[in-house]
Amino acid sequence: MIFLGLETTCDETSAGVIVRDNTGHARILSNVISSQLALHAPYGGVVPELAARAHVENMDVVISEAMAQAQISFQDLDGVAAAAGPGLIGGVIVGLTAGKALALALNKPFCAINHLEAHALSARLEHHVPFPYLLLLVSGGHTQLIAVLGVGQYHRLGTTIDDAAGEAFDKVAKMLDLPYPGGPIVEELALKGDAARFALPRPMLGKLEPDFSFSGLKTAVRHVIVSLPHITDQDKADICACFQAAMLDVFADRVIAAMRVMQNLTSDKVRTMVAAGGVAANAQLRSALARLAKSHGMDFVCPKLELCGDNGAMIAWAGIERIRMGYRDEYDFAPRARWPLDARFENTKQKA
Ligand code: KG4
Ligand code: ZN
Repeated sequence: MIFLGLETTCDETSAGVIVRDNTGHARILSNVISSQLALHAPYGGVVPELAARAHVENMDVVISEAMAQAQISFQDLDGVAAAAGPGLIGGVIVGLTAGKALALALNKPFCAINHLEAHALSARLEHHVPFPYLLLLVSGGHTQLIAVLGVGQYHRLGTTIDDAAGEAFDKVAKMLDLPYPGGPIVEELALKGDAARFALPRPMLGKLEPDFSFSGLKTAVRHVIVSLPHITDQDKADICACFQAAMLDVFADRVIAAMRVMQNLTSDKVRTMVAAGGVAANAQLRSALARLAKSHGMDFVCPKLELCGDNGAMIAWAGIERIRMGYRDEYDFAPRARWPLDARFENTKQKA
């Protein structure tokens, strides 16, 4: 089975082609990612209108490149999948409309994919990860702990009540005059810093519900910055190290809280912990989670870096997973700015 997947929910225009053989083995034939980083960098964050326009300009080129690299023709496809949300609506419309048009013209099945579901299933693309598993989804827009019980079956255990984790990395970087996106540079500087120099809070630590909050930590970082007469490179490294150490402590504590809640949800043993999303690119976070999983007798799986950030291959893979379960969508599927994975939260005001 061969699927094309399109991703345009934020600031990456991406198309990927995945093949899955009858033994269940999947392979990435292509995963073309056109990043808009340079476009948004001067603003210190993604500008929705600029993002949407860039998706319009790049979508066709990225699709052609993905098909050329995969060395297949459109007729070889068994279906087309496109992210239909949640995300910046102008961008979502571009990828979703392109996906529908292609599927319609080719007369192939179409899948409208929840971007969060694609992140949730991305670990199964190159690894054997049986259901159920515990997912930590951490990106610039989302920070959630999810019990993944099966394809289409997601139980949100916890979420952030304010900023997303990636957003916190980005805001701390901005306060320190570091470039956007902040995650990679904060991680790099943290390696050279003293993580014990400043005392920073660990919000939500010890709470039973596996939720997150990062705004207090961000404010504490601001207080540290204004308390210093001027900021040297070493100060920056020390602040990054202290901030990242606080984040890692929070993640570990919240994941343990989620394990407890999840074990009461399912009679099956939860054998695997999965991390996905852009922040899961953080090597310190990966190794902390791997240690944590091991100490609880669980396996830890994290998709490779290219599959952690936003990409078309994970959308194609979600399409394959869904079509195999008998799900397919109509051409009138509406784009969604907000689309919680767990339907219990459809009518709440929280972020997706
Ligand atoms: O999943 P993603 O590519 O886009 C969405 O937000 O959907 O995630 C981007 C986020 C940014 O906030 C970025 O700062 C963060 O992931 N990030 C990191 C690292 N690499 C990217 N955060 C911490 N450490 C990193 N190495
Ligand atoms: Zn994402």
